[in-house]
Amino acid sequence: MSLVISMEDVWKKYRMGKAGDLIVLKEINLEINKGDFVAITGPSGSGKSTMMNLVGALDVPSFGTISLKGRNIRKMRESSLAMLRGETIGFIFQQFNLLPTLSALQNVMLPMELVDVSEKTAKERAELLLTKLGLEDRMNHKPNELSGGQQQRVAIARALANNPEVILADEPTGNLDSKSGRFVMDFLGELNQKEGKTIILVTHDLELVKYAHRVVYIRDGMIEKDTLNRNGKNQMRAGLKKLTKLRLLKFTQMKAQKKLSAHSRSLIFTQLKGGRKK
Ligand SMILES: Nc1ncnc2c1ncn2[C@@H]1O[C@H](COP(=O)(O)OP(=O)(O)O)[C@@H](O)[C@H]1O
Ligand SMILES: [Mg+2]
Repeated sequence: MSLVISMEDVWKKYRMGKAGDLIVLKEINLEINKGDFVAITGPSGSGKSTMMNLVGALDVPSFGTISLKGRNIRKMRESSLAMLRGETIGFIFQQFNLLPTLSALQNVMLPMELVDVSEKTAKERAELLLTKLGLEDRMNHKPNELSGGQQQRVAIARALANNPEVILADEPTGNLDSKSGRFVMDFLGELNQKEGKTIILVTHDLELVKYAHRVVYIRDGMIEKDTLNRNGKNQMRAGLKKLTKLRLLKFTQMKAQKKLSAHSRSLIFTQLKGGRKK
């Protein structure tokens, strides 16, 4: 099994002036393998988001080593780290974090500006992803013209833009109604099962951890328990599988009349097969 992320004796503390240091994470040792679906759970304030920001190389530890695909992130220059992060990790947040002035399509195209992809390919890929998420008729809407559930689906499409190995989702259903929340969780489950994506889900909701294969419990900044969840697989409903297939079929029909670049064709083919690019 290949290691995607490792944390070795990681600590995070904040300087609070006269009040001294606030230690938020202590002695964190964690290894996440390719294809894992890991839930990180614990009470509010236990350090979950801090840990997710470290895992996603959005923040640096006060002490300890974090490696992303075997590379110590502290030893990397900011520009190469940004590149590695952009290619490897897709982020999904509770607050969606879409850019308000951009359309759904433009939001999804944004991460592709970081990597070497032509605008035409980026547009086609964004259209494919939005279609896969059932938003083919919402591509030109701005975030404030979309419901919460739709905004989170745009954010998922954006997270998938560069076909990252890892999806990091911090309370992704926290601002959603239960139906939209279920869609998001089923979709993450499907990405894990069908495309082999590594999913790291941060949630305080014990109902959601059942989707994961492995559950890491944190309390007061420490890992309290790291357990396997034998029933974690096969949570995806058959209905969702069928729906995704139908949407993809519609997309290929839609595109059949137009000429597609070889790159997009291969991307679409990979998506349709639900497999990873070899
Ligand atoms: N930038 C910061 N400065 C000081 N304290 C912080 C900062 N960010 C988070 N904290 C504190 O760290 C603790 C853990 O926060 P967080 O990781 O957001 O918890 P969770 O996501 O589990 O609810 C909290 O007590 C919070 O107040
Ligand atoms: Mg949090």
